[in-house]
Amino acid sequence: MNDNVLLAEEEGGIAILTLNRPDVMNAINFSLLHALKEKIEDLRVKQGIRVIIITGAGEKAFCAGADLKERALLDDSQVKKFIFTIRDLFTSIALLNKPVIAAINGVALGGGTELSLACDIRIASMNASMGLTETRLAIIPGAGGTQRLPRLIGCGKAKELIFTGRRVGAQEALQIGLVNQICEHESLLDECKKMAAMICETGPIAIEQAKYAINYGLETDINTGLAIESNAYWVTIPTEDRLEGIAAFREKRKPVYKGR
Ligand code: COA
Repeated sequence: MNDNVLLAEEEGGIAILTLNRPDVMNAINFSLLHALKEKIEDLRVKQGIRVIIITGAGEKAFCAGADLKERALLDDSQVKKFIFTIRDLFTSIALLNKPVIAAINGVALGGGTELSLACDIRIASMNASMGLTETRLAIIPGAGGTQRLPRLIGCGKAKELIFTGRRVGAQEALQIGLVNQICEHESLLDECKKMAAMICETGPIAIEQAKYAINYGLETDINTGLAIESNAYWVTIPTEDRLEGIAAFREKRKPVYKGR
């Protein structure tokens, strides 16, 4: 893995991944794709890491999408390879067994918005500018954007944004439900860490199962979804953590969950 294009740090149960190509607005090239893929696979099985925050280096950009300078050098089959790789990577983020928060610290266009859509929660700073602008390059969103945007904000608004390639600022992103929360640029990481810290107080198996039930349940009819919810619930019943939650309530103390 090339350590420079992706920075990783851990504090408490939180891993912070920083896309680190600020000279090109953290645009994603093959090298960054591979680094992110490797890191996500590590974090999937890393004990003690409960929440992942993804952000971009520098003051201006979260991620300006695919690296268009690299793209200009790729032949058709290499472009296809890039698209399959980025789509699979973002799907693995969406389906990761731990919550992922996008800390959108500026420009998030094309693949940058798609990356945030693959995350579970999006918090944006006031200077954020988001959009699926691919049609302006005579291509379409290829890393899940045509599927995840309408599921998040509704079909009509998603079509408007994809057909026009229009960018939205932080206020509008909040208003249309594209992001969960907006804040001042300086406090973005703190706000993300605050939310992550709250998640860290919960039961790890419960969070994994809740994410699983929401993700898979949303893709089906309600009765199948409810069956998925039941099965996910059943996983939590025999856990030590469930008994710890009840004991802590009875003893009026904070629970200590172990993910067992
Ligand atoms: N790929 C490669 N390089 C990119 C990039 C991308 N997606 N987006 C920005 N950059 C580079 C610029 O080429 C420039 O590098 P240079 O100084 O060597 O020319 C640098 O990042 C800064 O960008 P610049 O355009 O000068 O900044 P800006 O503030 O005027 O505009 C953007 C920022 C993001 C609005 C503009 O760069 C842009 O539209 N980028 C393309 C975004 C896009 O369409 N993404 C979807 C890809 S499918």
